Amino acid sequence: MAKGFLGYPSTLMLDVVVCALILVVPVLLFSIYLVKFRRAYLWHRRLQTGLGVALLVTVCLFEIDMRMHGGWQAILKQRSVLLTDAQLQWVSRVLLVHLVFAVSTVILWTVTLTHGWKRIPRPPQPSPHSATHKLLGWLSTITLTLTSVTGLVFYYYAFVI
Ligand code: HEM
Repeated sequence: MAKGFLGYPSTLMLDVVVCALILVVPVLLFSIYLVKFRRAYLWHRRLQTGLGVALLVTVCLFEIDMRMHGGWQAILKQRSVLLTDAQLQWVSRVLLVHLVFAVSTVILWTVTLTHGWKRIPRPPQPSPHSATHKLLGWLSTITLTLTSVTGLVFYYYAFVI
């Protein structure tokens, strides 16, 4: 089984996803800073579209990797000390919460991006669609941040301790 590079008993793609989860929030905040305080609308669009593509590719590779390794419970068997039933139950709950946020993020992100691409003028600038876009944008930001936090909590309890 291909090991991860962070030094824990996980897989290569799990470690790639953990790094992506850590990197994605500051990049997203920088993109919002660009649009809110610098009015760099074009760079905001480029960054948001790039983030969307990067996240989609990472999630697809991650899903393939998970299937190849027989699922997360099979990966957990690489641990030298196996989790107790209580720990396994806790980790499963964290994973469930993480999945709820992850699925919401995929839906919201797709809607925000397609809405932005279709309705916001070219080159991008404030328009009658700004209010809806801001609402969708902040909702996507919140769910992505919670996806990141819960993903890291899952990784910590499943592989680090
Ligand atoms: C999922 C991807 C995206 C997210 C999460 C996102 C997020 C946001 C957020 C939170 C704001 C509000 C900042 C504030 O409070 O002032 C904003 C503003 C803006 N975004 Fe996005 N955005 C995304 C994609 C896009 C795309 C693809 C475009 C262009 C086609 C775009 C163009 C704009 C513009 C022009 C504003 C300024 C609106 C105004 O101040 O009137 N965004 N975005």
